[in-house]
Order: sequence, then structure tokens, then C-alpha cells
Amino acid sequence: MSFSLVHLSDMHFGGVADLAQIEAVETLVPELEPNLVVISGDVSQRARHGELQRARAFVRSMAFAAPVHIIPGNHDVQWWRRPLIPFGRRGKYAKYRAYFGEELTPALNLPDAVVAGVLTAHGVAWGSLTPRLRDIAVKGHLPKSEILRAQKLFTAARREQTRILVLHHNVLRGELSKRMGLARWKTAQQRIVASGADLVLCGHDHTEQVEALEGVVVACAGTLSTRSRGGRPPVFFRIVVDDEAMTVEHYRWDASGGVFRRSHQHQFARRRPVVRAVAT
Ligand SMILES: [Fe+2]
Repeated sequence: MSFSLVHLSDMHFGGVADLAQIEAVETLVPELEPNLVVISGDVSQRARHGELQRARAFVRSMAFAAPVHIIPGNHDVQWWRRPLIPFGRRGKYAKYRAYFGEELTPALNLPDAVVAGVLTAHGVAWGSLTPRLRDIAVKGHLPKSEILRAQKLFTAARREQTRILVLHHNVLRGELSKRMGLARWKTAQQRIVASGADLVLCGHDHTEQVEALEGVVVACAGTLSTRSRGGRPPVFFRIVVDDEAMTVEHYRWDASGGVFRRSHQHQFARRRPVVRAVAT
């Protein structure tokens, strides 16, 4: 078995998207012949119609290469609509849904993988509130109900299928920002490990990072915008899974050549699926 995916995040169509990078990705991804393209949120900057329309055109270009799995990030949520009001949910996601469909947390069942999206971008919500005022509508949170839904999908997966969890906010502490994307991040990490995922794909922090979290491979993608941290050249991931290993390849932006080039990789041995009780 050999399965590959391309993982992109945080394009932020609008003022900060880097169109040279976007166009290079549109050219390169079909050549990589992936089985799946994952976009882990923040396709827009302010959830404006024009931004979401360009994002939709990008998703359609990716769909010529492979099935696309996309979820919203905090920038794609109109959080200023009905903040903290119960049942205000529909308004917050209405625009995103108009361009990417009703399903905010799509699930895909492919021959070699089960992909479960979970929602962490809730806008201004009780579960995401932290003492830092500037974090209003920026932090995410991972409700137990979300992870239980993913766990159910992973439990039903066939043994040979790779279990892939997709969420927007960074699960690992940002190497440069020193920040966690999720409120109550320790509980969130425990829940993610308990879900039975083999691979977790996230973004939000704009810094590429790959680590194993109690045996679960976590890949935080960088951004394809001008907002990369520390002036580092942006990176997207190609991830290859076979019977022996999971390999996360970094494709790094070469501004002088106007192309992404494979720079280095992380490799992890495959492990047997583990499903545990989910922390409350
Ligand atoms: Fe974000």
C-alpha cells in the first residue's frame, strides 16, 4: 500500500495571499499525483465574498488532481455575527458554506484512508475564551463531541486505512510564536491521541512543524501567504504513507526560482491503531 497526500493551510486569500506561491502550487500539485489534498482552514483573510470566491477557484483547481478535504479556520468564520449567542451558529458560517458546501466537518472514506474533519474555529465562543483580550475569535477549542465523532469513524475504519484527523488550530506549541492554537490544549491533545488517529493535520500558526504526540504524527503546515513567521520561506507538506513508514516531506518556497522544492523530510515507523477513552 502506498498513499500520498498534499497538506496546505492558511492561504488567506485577500491582501496577504502570495499569488506566486499559490500559482506554483496549482502547477506542482497535479505533478505530484496525490491521492488527497487537505486544506486545513483560513483560506480567507476576512471571510469576504471575493476572498472566498478565489479560494473556491483554488479548491477547484486542486480537485482536478485529487479529492479535496477542506475545513474552515478562524478567519473564515464571521465571528462578529451573533457572538456568544446560543443558536447564532448558522450566521457565523453562512458565507463559508455558500462556497464550500453545508458540511463544516467533512469526512472522506478513501480506499487507503479515512479522513475526519473536526471543528475548532467557533468564533467568539465560551469554550475558546481565554484571559488575553487579543485572542478573542483567534483561539480555538476542540469539543468532546467533535472528537467522539472522529473516533467513531476511525474505529469503523479497515485496518489498512490510515486514520487522518484534520483541524485548523495548531496542536503543537508554535516553535517561534510559543503559542498553542487551542484553549485547554492539554485536554485537546489527550482527546486527539484518544481518537485513534494515525496522523493529525493542522495549521493556524504559520510555522511548519512535525512531531509525534504519543505515537500520533502531528503535522502543522505553514502558510502560503506573506505572513510566514520569522521571514522563513513558506512550506507545504507532501505526506507518503506505506506499510512501513509515514514520511512528511517539506516543499519549501524558492523565491528566486518561483517554485517549491523538496527540502527535507521526517519519517515515522507505522504503528498499530490505538483507540482510548476520550478525556472529559
Ligand atoms: Fe487561523
